[in-house]
Amino acid sequence: MPEVKLNNVVKTFDKGRIIAVDHVNLTVRDKEYLTLLGPSGCGKTTTLRMIAGLELPDEGEISIGEKRVSDLPPEYRDIGYVFQEYALFPHMDVWNNVTYGPRVKGWNEKKSNKIGREMLELVRLFERTDAFPSELSGGMKQRVALARALSSGSKLLLLDEPLGALDAKIRTDLRYEIRKLVKDLQLTAIHVTHDQAEAMAISDRIAVMRKGKIMQVGTPQELYLNPQHIFVANFVGESNFLEGYVADRVGHKLTVELRGGIYVKSLNKDHKKGEKVVVAIRPEVLSITKGEKSGVNSIVGNIEGFRFEGNNVRYEIRLQNEDMIVVVRPALMAEWLSVGEKITVAFPFEKSFVFSYPEKGLRTELALE
Ligand SMILES: Nc1ncnc2c1ncn2[C@@H]1O[C@H](COP(=O)(O)OP(=O)(O)O)[C@@H](O)[C@H]1O
Ligand SMILES: [Mg+2]
Repeated sequence: MPEVKLNNVVKTFDKGRIIAVDHVNLTVRDKEYLTLLGPSGCGKTTTLRMIAGLELPDEGEISIGEKRVSDLPPEYRDIGYVFQEYALFPHMDVWNNVTYGPRVKGWNEKKSNKIGREMLELVRLFERTDAFPSELSGGMKQRVALARALSSGSKLLLLDEPLGALDAKIRTDLRYEIRKLVKDLQLTAIHVTHDQAEAMAISDRIAVMRKGKIMQVGTPQELYLNPQHIFVANFVGESNFLEGYVADRVGHKLTVELRGGIYVKSLNKDHKKGEKVVVAIRPEVLSITKGEKSGVNSIVGNIEGFRFEGNNVRYEIRLQNEDMIVVVRPALMAEWLSVGEKITVAFPFEKSFVFSYPEKGLRTELALE
């Protein structure tokens, strides 16, 4: 039913000076849980507001199901919307908040009551029907907001940073509850967040946005295993970036000369000999051994610092060519190394990515805004 399509959608503000959404093409499949992920200011909310009809696109088309909705006012789009700040009616109790939609729609009392009851049972708040929003915790308020968004029977749910105002533990619990609700009710959901861990955990697919553009759309695994842009390699998961030049290519193997005459092997993706490139290596695929070791993709360095992060240890390492690299090891498996210690890092060549060096430089490419 509600497949959502955006076709070349553009939205500017401030007489065109701010390009909030820049030629976005996106298809959200029926019953899919899709997340728009990107740094603050990249155009996520604007995209969502255009789907809801709260903002009109300057250019392009939006359709929901078979219907072109670009010029349709919000009340005709049949959408449930959940905001970061709950937006509950403070003077109404839980029951009246949740049954407000059905009543405004003119449904009879029996039907309104039935759906109100169902929705509150789904979010496990049926015992709190008499409570006012001010008497509820953040997590409860957001569950009421969900029930209210769904009580009008909408099959399309839009969620704008719905977990942003909650404490860490509740945030992770509610994340799975929302996904389960969406799946049980067979809804299509478009979720907006800047939190990559949340996006990875909750989504069928993620659209990574940067500066109004969609950089890549894929399942969490696809984005992690096969990032198509340096920005994605850094924003979904984490990466170290080492600059170098292609020294040689044989079949699917590439040899890259890093600064300081260090040679590493990586996977070839049509890079030319002599091309300036960036090798991306995830901190968790690097191993560390004490002392100076030789071998393929082994680089000698010194521990400059480390942080115990609970489940992981994060080492900051200065390589012999002065490049900095981060290595993350599971705490229980980590060698406890001290600052100043000489070590060798190594990585399997097929677990690194090579990108052409960005035209505007690496820093600009990685910048969040
Ligand atoms: N009503 C508005 N007037 C002017 N600029 C706006 C308006 N809404 C959003 N913007 C700008 O558009 C860009 C995208 O904003 P937004 O969609 O809210 O990003 P996100 O939700 O990803 O943080 C930002 O630069 C923001 O300042
Ligand atoms: Mg926003």
